[in-house]
Amino acid sequence: MILEVLISVPLLVFLTCKLWSHFNQSYFILSLCKRIRTEDGSPLEDKIYVTPTKTRFGNNFDLLSFTSASIFNFMRDACDQAKGRNYLWYFFHAPMYNVVRAEEAEEIFQSPKLITKNMVYDLLKPFLREGLLTSTDQKWHSRRKALTPAFHFNILQSFLSIFKEECNKLTKVLNQSVDKELDLNQVIPQFTLNNVCETALGVKLDDMTEGLRYRQSIHAIEEVMQQRLCNPFFYNIVYFYLFGDYRKQVDNLKIAHDFSSQIIEKRRTLFRSKQLGQADDFGKKQRYAMLDTLLAAEAEGQIDHEGICDEVNTFMFEGYDTTSTCLIFTLLMLALHEDVQKRCFEEVENLPEDSDEISVFQYNELIYLECVIKESLRMFPSVPTIGRKCMEECVVNGLVMPENTQINVHIFDIMRDPRHFPNPNTFQPDRFLPENTVNRHPFAFVPFSAGQRNCIGQKFAILEIKVLLAAMIRNFRILPITLLSDITFENGIVLRTQQNVKVKLLRRKQE
Ligand code: HEM
Repeated sequence: MILEVLISVPLLVFLTCKLWSHFNQSYFILSLCKRIRTEDGSPLEDKIYVTPTKTRFGNNFDLLSFTSASIFNFMRDACDQAKGRNYLWYFFHAPMYNVVRAEEAEEIFQSPKLITKNMVYDLLKPFLREGLLTSTDQKWHSRRKALTPAFHFNILQSFLSIFKEECNKLTKVLNQSVDKELDLNQVIPQFTLNNVCETALGVKLDDMTEGLRYRQSIHAIEEVMQQRLCNPFFYNIVYFYLFGDYRKQVDNLKIAHDFSSQIIEKRRTLFRSKQLGQADDFGKKQRYAMLDTLLAAEAEGQIDHEGICDEVNTFMFEGYDTTSTCLIFTLLMLALHEDVQKRCFEEVENLPEDSDEISVFQYNELIYLECVIKESLRMFPSVPTIGRKCMEECVVNGLVMPENTQINVHIFDIMRDPRHFPNPNTFQPDRFLPENTVNRHPFAFVPFSAGQRNCIGQKFAILEIKVLLAAMIRNFRILPITLLSDITFENGIVLRTQQNVKVKLLRRKQE
């Protein structure tokens, strides 16, 4: 008996120590998530900044105030603390690899394995379900292939007249705001939503009685997503159901889904009776809409009604807020930099007087205006962070990532890296003149992401943005009201500001 005790107690102690040591090396104790290690066995800290934890629970309780502004600042502080290195967090279920350098972002963008989005995108799924942005693997591959022709140059050309019509409508509204305070957040999102709705679905929102309700429902859905994004407790569906705006989400999703579904039905009837290309009820020629590409894919059995709805909703979501955010910041920068605005004016003055005559080629030749848009996107990327996750254990940048590791590529921080953009907080459009970009790292400027999951709508967006900017710069002088120091940034799937951005317009012809 004594002998048994003498043998078994030390054995038990030995085994417990062994297990503890193994567990502590492989897992983050009390956070229950498996650790990341280096592939070559070198110390982890040599390859990445491991953010110190404030409690024994990993980084779970490092941030205690869940406002969208505090989360935005938390991420920027984390980047400063890491002094330009990529950094690591440990959260409840998984490690989080944060990339802020173009050099390491490259491997993620280029990896054919890392195409699955991380848990943040689950918040989009009630609205977008399995659309192009949120889907993965085979479904994503086949959809991307089917949808690419909808963004072909010829199609883009046919959208130009829609952009111009919406632009003329907005210019009329702006004419009434001359010499007064103009709230850009009140007018620009309506312009981009109208554009994407007409190009994707083939309907004019302003002409429809349900148009206003649909627009409001999209705003409401975004507000709920924002609420969930900024409070990790709301990622849990039960908690969200009990304490979040669950009802608001359900009601507005119904409005948005029903609206797109009805339009799809109507367009399908037209498509089936081969009326495309013929006159519609009002004697007008039916315009192409991206939806037609999806209906053609449906006719070949590649997609069903639900799939079409998901893709249409994805275009709405990805196509309107991103573009309006870019427009708002570019207009703000133009207002704040009179010299830059003057150079843009000199460039757009050379365009034909009658805007109907301006071609896509002529918009493409507005090189300096494009530099201004790029510099605005560099400083204020509409999508500040994108995410991926490891579906199985994998090696990324020499680090062995356990299954389910969450990856954040901080586009915002990559594009403010002083190694690639000296004086990164200064607005300098000349950085993007062809002669100044020759030696820049190819993944240093990535507002549209990069690699196979890059933005399918980037040319669409740039054209739409140029059409409105050229018209505004030609007609008005844009003066500042809001200053950069007035702005508080907020974390979101799309970059937000707590305050609306305001400018003042003066009519040029009267000067
Ligand atoms: C300035 C405007 C825009 C910016 C900055 C932007 C940015 C981005 C970024 C960063 C991504 C990658 C997202 C991720 O990996 O999570 C993306 C994807 C996407 N964007 Fe855009 N976008 C813009 C405009 C548009 C427009 C106008 C459309 C459509 C009409 C569009 C449709 C999409 C779609 C469908 C995807 C998913 C692509 C895929 O995964 O295959 N975007 N966009």
